[in-house]
Amino acid sequence: MSAAGDLLPQLIDSFGRVHNNLRISVTDRCNIRCFYCMPADNVEFMPKAELLTFEEIARVVRIAASLGVDRVRLTGGEPLVRRELPSLVRMLSEIPGIQDIGLTTNGIFLSELAQPLYEAGLRRMNISLDALDPEIFRKVTRRDGYDKVIEGIQAARVAGFEPIKLNAVSVRGLTEDQIVPFGRLARESNTVVRFIEFMPLDADSQWQRDKVLFAHEIIARLEAEFGALLPTEPDHPNAPAQDYRFADGIGRIGLIASVSRPFCGSCNRFRVTADGKLRNCLFSHEETDIRGLLRGSSSDQEIAQQMLNCVAAKKEGHEINTAKFVQPDRPMYSIGG
Ligand code: 5AD
Ligand code: SF4
Repeated sequence: MSAAGDLLPQLIDSFGRVHNNLRISVTDRCNIRCFYCMPADNVEFMPKAELLTFEEIARVVRIAASLGVDRVRLTGGEPLVRRELPSLVRMLSEIPGIQDIGLTTNGIFLSELAQPLYEAGLRRMNISLDALDPEIFRKVTRRDGYDKVIEGIQAARVAGFEPIKLNAVSVRGLTEDQIVPFGRLARESNTVVRFIEFMPLDADSQWQRDKVLFAHEIIARLEAEFGALLPTEPDHPNAPAQDYRFADGIGRIGLIASVSRPFCGSCNRFRVTADGKLRNCLFSHEETDIRGLLRGSSSDQEIAQQMLNCVAAKKEGHEINTAKFVQPDRPMYSIGG
C-alpha cells in the first residue's frame, strides 16, 4: 500500500475487507415492475422530501472519497426517473478521488438520456434486460417497455458506450429459453451479457431456491450451443461477475452467481439508500440513518464516523444458503441494486 493510502482512515470491516465502492440509490421509483424486485401494483414510494438531493449525495460522496472510496455506482429504483441525473454525474465526476462512476438502468429513458449522460462523463453503464423475447419481458416486468429498452440500448451505442453491458436476471421456468439468444447476441455484437442468479430480494417474498437458474446450468446451456467457455481475468479483483469468453474467441459473457457461489469474501461494496440510510450489505437487517445528520448541523467528520462504524459492523456474508436466512424488510427497489 502507498504511503498516501496509509494516511486515510479506511473503510475496513472486521474481516479485513477494504471498502472503496459505494452504490448510491437515487430513487426507489421505477417505470416497470419486475417481479423479482417490486410488487405488481400499489407500491408505496418514499415521499419526495425524503430523497437525498443531488447536493446531499455529492456531500456523501465527498466524505466517502475522503475515506478511500474511488468508485461509485448510481442505482434505483430506476435512476433515470430523476431526469436531471446527468447533472449529478457531472457533480460526482468533479469530486477529487472519484475515478469511476457507473450507472445501472432499465434502459427505458436512455433514448433521451444516453447522450447527455455520456457528455456528463459517464462511461460505465449496465442495462437490465432479462429477455430478448418481448412476451417474456412483459411477464418479468409486468409492463410494456421492451421497444423503449431496445431503442435505449441503440442510443447508448450511438452515444459511445462500448461495449454495452446487459444484466439478465435468470429465473427457472421463465428465462431458460433466453440463454441461447443472449449468447448469440454476445457473439454477434459488442455486448457483454451478464446472467444474474435470482436472489431473495423480491417485494412479494416469492423467492424459492428452486426458482434460481444456477450459473452452472446457464454455462452448460451456452456450451452445448456454442462450444467451450473459458474463464477470463476479472476487470477488478472484487468484481462479483465471473467472466468467460467463448473458446473460438468470439463473444464474452459473465455470471453473477450470488446464490450458488457467493462472493461475500471479496466484497468491497456498501450502499446508501435514496432516503439516506447506509447499508453494509444487500441482505443486512440494520441500517444507519445519515439523512438526519446531513440535514442537521453534523460535521463531515461525524458523518464519516457513521460510515466507518457501518462498514466495521459488516457481517461475514449473506446466509441465503442456510436455514437461518431471513429476507431483509427492504426489497431490491428500495435498497438499490
Ligand atoms: N435477484 C437478482 N437480481 C436482481 N436485480 C433486481 N432484483 C434482483 C433479484 N431479486 C437486478 C436488476 C438489475 C440489478 C440492479 O439488480 O435486474 O440489473
Ligand atoms: Fe425497476 Fe430495476 Fe426493480 Fe426492475 S429491478 S423493477 S428495473 S428497480
